[in-house]
Amino acid sequence: MKRIAVFTSGGDSPGMNACIRAVVRTCAYNQVEAIGIKRGYEGMIEGDFVQLPPSAVSNIIHLGGTMLKTARSSRFLTQEGRKLAFLQLQKHRIEGLVVIGGDGSFKGAETFYAETGMPVIGIPGTIDNDLVGTDFTLGFDTAINTALSAIDKIRDTAASHNRLFFIEVMGRDAGFIALYTGIASGSEAILVPETITDIEQLIKLLETGWSRQKSSCIIIVAEGDDAGGAFEVAQKVKERFNHYDTRVSILGHIQRGGSPSCQDRVLAARLGVAAVEALLNRQKNEMVGLINNQITFTPLTKAVKSNHLFDPNLLRMVEILSV
Ligand code: F6P
Repeated sequence: MKRIAVFTSGGDSPGMNACIRAVVRTCAYNQVEAIGIKRGYEGMIEGDFVQLPPSAVSNIIHLGGTMLKTARSSRFLTQEGRKLAFLQLQKHRIEGLVVIGGDGSFKGAETFYAETGMPVIGIPGTIDNDLVGTDFTLGFDTAINTALSAIDKIRDTAASHNRLFFIEVMGRDAGFIALYTGIASGSEAILVPETITDIEQLIKLLETGWSRQKSSCIIIVAEGDDAGGAFEVAQKVKERFNHYDTRVSILGHIQRGGSPSCQDRVLAARLGVAAVEALLNRQKNEMVGLINNQITFTPLTKAVKSNHLFDPNLLRMVEILSV
């Protein structure tokens, strides 16, 4: 293999730049030419390709976002779009692909491989941590630390005013960010899409806290919770329980940006090196991940979102610790 292309796709996540760097440098180390595709599958369809010599990725290891830009492509969902993309890859003599992205990006890669036979290795890059085949996805550690530092600050003001705060974190379909930040911030309850939210039970818990003289409370709500976002949940609770002055805070896209944590940079390096080595080893249609601190490969077909990853014991722990 003489030419490998790398691209980022779907929502950006901290550590993508460090991972692009690892892919590019591993290519150079193995005398393989690295090409960057801008704006994910959109750029692939349009032939938006750039040469990536080792110097092109200098001084990006600490930067959030992605130097290659990213997009969610609706054109790649069509066979016509995928045909155009394949023609561009042939024109640029690309022999293998590394896609850094989430579930949607891998579904696209899998279909593309089935239709064209183009070898592809996926690297899990999403703040949501919702993929089978890796213990942690790239960007999750940074995102939870960003959210946690915001929640800690909200705790200061919540405690000073004796308020009840509903804090919404990202996670359209997955509650990992909510779960980890909720445990680490000592929140009273965590509402996630993986479990059915019982507003009655939440009110009971708040009543108990009130009777035990809790002066303030923090409830973490994943944006995709079945009871609604933080505003909706706060409204439902307020109608029936109004002992505290209530406020809502939506953390939003600050969770996606910022300099990647040390853990995310190391993960980026390990996954980037392994992805290129896998392609050179003639592996294809797989996602590289880290399970029990070991590099692991999972067929792309299996590396899709899965709710069964969620450990209900962690949620049970919150009930114990918020007593
Ligand atoms: O998948 C990553 C993610 O940040 C989700 O947590 C969130 O629901 C979504 O992307 C937001 O997407 P967008 O930036 O397109 O609004």
